Parts: sequence; C-alpha cells; structure tokens
Amino acid sequence: MKKKKVAVIGATGVAGQQFLASLAGHPFFEVTALAASERSAGKLYRQAITDHSGAFRWYCQEPLIEEFAKLNVQDAAHLDASTVDLIFTAVESDAAKDLEPRYAKTTPVVSTASAFRYEKDVPIFIPGVNLDHDQLIPVQQKNRGWKGFVTPVPNCTTTGLAMTLKPLYDAFGVQQVLMTSMQALSGAGRSPGVIGMDIMDNVVPYIPKEEEKVETETQKILGHLSDGVIEPALFPVSATCTRVPVMEAHTEAVYVSLKKKASVEEVKQAFRDFGREFAAQKFPSCPSELIHVTEDPYRPQPRLDRDREGGMTTSVGRVRADHALSNGIKYVLVSHNTKMGAAKGGMLVAEYLVHQGYI
Ligand SMILES: NC(=O)c1ccc[n+]([C@@H]2O[C@H](COP(=O)([O-])OP(=O)(O)OC[C@H]3O[C@@H](n4cnc5c(N)ncnc54)[C@H](OP(=O)(O)O)[C@@H]3O)[C@@H](O)[C@H]2O)c1
Repeated sequence: MKKKKVAVIGATGVAGQQFLASLAGHPFFEVTALAASERSAGKLYRQAITDHSGAFRWYCQEPLIEEFAKLNVQDAAHLDASTVDLIFTAVESDAAKDLEPRYAKTTPVVSTASAFRYEKDVPIFIPGVNLDHDQLIPVQQKNRGWKGFVTPVPNCTTTGLAMTLKPLYDAFGVQQVLMTSMQALSGAGRSPGVIGMDIMDNVVPYIPKEEEKVETETQKILGHLSDGVIEPALFPVSATCTRVPVMEAHTEAVYVSLKKKASVEEVKQAFRDFGREFAAQKFPSCPSELIHVTEDPYRPQPRLDRDREGGMTTSVGRVRADHALSNGIKYVLVSHNTKMGAAKGGMLVAEYLVHQGYI
C-alpha cells in the first residue's frame, strides 16, 4: 500500500507528541507536515520543543526520531490541508473549532479535541466499540458539503469507561453508572498543565467540564445509529473526576447497575471476550486484548498496568458484586490517557478508516 501523507496539528503538545511517537515507522502513514500555534511556526520541530532555558520538552518514552525533529513547524492557521491525505489534530477546543472545519473541506480529520464531539452528525469513535457509527461520515459530508470529515476520539476519561461498559451493555443491559476517576497529570496537557505546588501531596477534586463530557459522551458512544441519527444510550451516568499525582493513566472506580442480574464470573467473561473480532483484524496499533482482567486484588495500578500492550489495553480488576445497587457490579479500571485515550486511539481509528476506504 502506498503510504498516506499525514499532518499533525498541535504537534508540540502532549497529545501531538504522542501522535508522532505512534507515527514513527508507521506502515500506513508518512508525516509530511507539522503545525502548531504561531509561537512555534517557522521553527524546526526540535527547536520548537526546546524552551528558552534550553530544556528539551519531549514527553514521550519513545525517542523523537530525526525524520520528525528536522521538519519545519507551520502555523496551523495557514496549513494547506489539500496537500495531505489525513490530518491528526491535537489542539484545544477553541482552536479546533476554527481549524478543523477548514481542513475538513478537503481532508479527513481525526481529532483529540472536543470541539465537534457533540454535533449530531459527528461520531465519537472508540476502536472496537462503535466503529459502526462510521455510517455518519457520509451524512456529515452531505450536511456540510465537505470532501473530508471530522471524527473526534472521546475525552480520555470516557475511553476506559465506555470501553468496559460496552460488553456489559451488550450482554446484560445497563440501568445506571456511577464513576469516580483518579486522573493523571498529563491529561491536563503541557500548557497551562497542572502546577506542581497544587498536586504534590494532594488530590484535586475538580476538573472543569470533565464530568459533563464523560456523562454525555458515554451515552453517545454506546448509542444506537439508525437512519443517520445516533439515539444516545438511555442509562444515566454520574461522574466525579479528580486529579491525582500520577504522570500517565487514568484510574476509575466504576459502579454499574445492570438490567439483568449477572454473576461476577459472567461479568469477567464478558470483559475477556470483548473485542476479539476487532483485534483479529490486526491493525498496526491494535492490542491483542482490548480489555485485560486481572485477578490480583492490588491491581490494576497506573504504574504497573498502563503500558500493557503499548498503552492500548484497558486493565480491569477488583470485579465484585455491589449490594447498594440493583444487580450491582463494581470494578476498577486503568486506561492510558495519552495512548488509547488520545493519540494512539486516534491512530487505530485512522487505520480502520483507511481499511474501510474513507481515507
Ligand atoms: N493530554 C491528554 O491526555 C489528552 C487526552 C485526550 C484528549 N486531549 C485533547 O487533545 C488536545 C490537546 O491537548 P494537549 O494535552 O496535547 O495540550 P497541550 O500539551 O497544551 O498542547 C497544545 C497544542 O496546541 C497548540 N496550539 C495552541 N494554540 C493553538 C492555535 N491557536 N492554533 C494551533 N495550535 C495551537 C500548541 O502549540 P504551541 O506549542 O505552538 O503553543 C500545542 O502544540 C486538547 O483538545 C485535549 O483536550 C488530550
């Protein structure tokens, strides 16, 4: 297959860097353009992520490859989208609102931003969960007169929750969901990010707009698409989102009231069986297991479990009956927020869209 030309927008930020880490040596894609704000424009990429004190602000565990380090960073506002086959965007919502529709006139956009997530004709994809919502792509193109399209991935906290609810929803039905998250620092991005003085020795019990995003997005992702419209899943989701002093990966304590009673063993089996058909397609970024169930009562832990299968597997443990809810089940999950929850999840979506002929 001839490689598709791709641009990464917001390439200097936390999620943008993760896109570059996932794109190094990628079999489907070659990076031909990088862009960020006018602050970085005109610099070589290596220079753009080296601050005025000389500190090299590359946050990924994977090394930055020379091929990307020497690319010129363009001003995202002036990028000619028609020169590439696909655009990955990793900018804040306000910038995305302006940039993404401009790019989508000619070119598909896979986005980590929330700007378009709540529009009726825009799917929020999680690999293996709701890729059948791709039928909305032609609807979106027709509605907006675009040759391209915009497909966002969810908020990084939604990803692990919706991924683990999907097998329960399909097998047993869901009546209601309660969730408390313990979220990593990297989820707040590089600028302004979280201040060390605020988070060391501490837990911050509020992340602006996060709880609303988790509640709305989960219902949309697990919603049913018919006649070009997604009917959101009807069960209520109640979330409390907190920030904890962990670098990467969100931990979530989840309580689910099922429609149909299920034993702990049946629930674990539903998690284990989930996503096998999707994984069998062997897309380059896909893990062999979308959900891994651990029996160790002290797991999952962010430090020990976040990197399972390159950060693409959601780890679930402490699966127990919950006696406060009707047909209650509770569990703890760990999901890598910048891998499956952002750039690498977006990469897997893009691989699927190439396979389906959308890109
Ligand atoms: N971090 C995560 O775990 C995560 C997970 C899921 C989704 N997301 C989403 O991904 C997006 C990026 O988040 P992040 O954490 O990577 O943020 P970040 O580290 O603060 O990076 C922001 C990026 O956007 C660029 N930028 C800022 N203003 C711009 C403008 N007006 N035009 C073009 N580029 C502009 C910045 O470029 P300069 O360097 O030139 O300023 C930088 O490359 C957000 O929408 C966030 O919600 C993040």
